[in-house]
Amino acid sequence: MNSCKSTPKVMVTGATGQLGGLAISALLQRLDPNQIAALVRPKKEADARVSKLDQLGIETREADYEDPAALRQAMSGIERLLFVSSNSFEPRRTQHQNVIDAAQASGVKFIAYTSILNAQDTPLVLTTDHRETEDMLTSSGIDHVVLRNGWYLENHLNGVQQALKDGFIAGAAANGRFSSAGRADYAAAAAVVIHPDFVPSRQVFELAGDASYSLNDLAAALSEQFNTDIRYRNMDAEAFRTTLEAHNLPQTLTSILVDTDLCAADGALEDANGTLGDLIGRPTLSLADALSASP
Ligand SMILES: NC(=O)c1ccc[n+]([C@@H]2O[C@H](COP(=O)([O-])OP(=O)(O)OC[C@H]3O[C@@H](n4cnc5c(N)ncnc54)[C@H](OP(=O)(O)O)[C@@H]3O)[C@@H](O)[C@H]2O)c1
Repeated sequence: MNSCKSTPKVMVTGATGQLGGLAISALLQRLDPNQIAALVRPKKEADARVSKLDQLGIETREADYEDPAALRQAMSGIERLLFVSSNSFEPRRTQHQNVIDAAQASGVKFIAYTSILNAQDTPLVLTTDHRETEDMLTSSGIDHVVLRNGWYLENHLNGVQQALKDGFIAGAAANGRFSSAGRADYAAAAAVVIHPDFVPSRQVFELAGDASYSLNDLAAALSEQFNTDIRYRNMDAEAFRTTLEAHNLPQTLTSILVDTDLCAADGALEDANGTLGDLIGRPTLSLADALSASP
């Protein structure tokens, strides 16, 4: 860990994670390392991701979302907090309340929270905690914005190898469209809004890719990229669940993926407002470009 030589004004939580790490990279293009602090979970063993932050000159502060006292201590002197939502499902609501309470007790002046697209309007199981967290932020009275991130392109890219092996993409989203963007685009937007010079024009940012695709489109794009024939196989919920379980996915994740596809079929993950591209000042990563860059 770095010693606390100066007082960072901006803290990024989930800094060892994929989105948090990318947000720190994006912030480093606009801030000095000594203006940034990274919140990381206490580690029992050396962690290369923490070492990398150390090497970048970023102060790491340790706290688990489940440890209110450590969170308060870690947020001392922080003015702006990029609050990356937890990736655990069960105690997430309590964890998020702990983070907001600690921010309040430590005098954090501004929070940007990573929520999910259409959090207040869709039946996605995933939205429940996000909706509650948005409400907690409102109750806290802390100045804040909500970054309602759409589906990560990477969620679909992760299935490419399996699709190439099987010759088909399994899903239950029918013709529903996904306005996905890459994590790096969402992270760049987070870096924009957490910068001390940012003056929010609104409180809620619905963030999504410039273009949307259906799972049929995904299959066609895969076929073209890999010069093969991949089809989309639409399934009912139970058949999709069984397919996912056969790939040994954990039960909670399986349930979320089934629910997500069913809600996507009704448009839950589609959005064409263009805010993400406007915030980052460039077109968002397209599916075709993401596929051609994927290993
Ligand atoms: N929009 C989407 O498609 C989508 C998809 C998946 C997830 N998400 C959400 O977006 C968030 C960021 O995504 P990501 O890809 O960066 O996830 P990720 O790589 O799994 O990173 C999650 C980060 O949260 C940290 N964290 C988890 N539990 C914590 C706790 N109890 N106390 C302190 N830190 C904790 C993790 O710490 P460790 O490194 O120590 O584990 C990690 O740094 C996820 O956490 C999830 O809420 C969105």
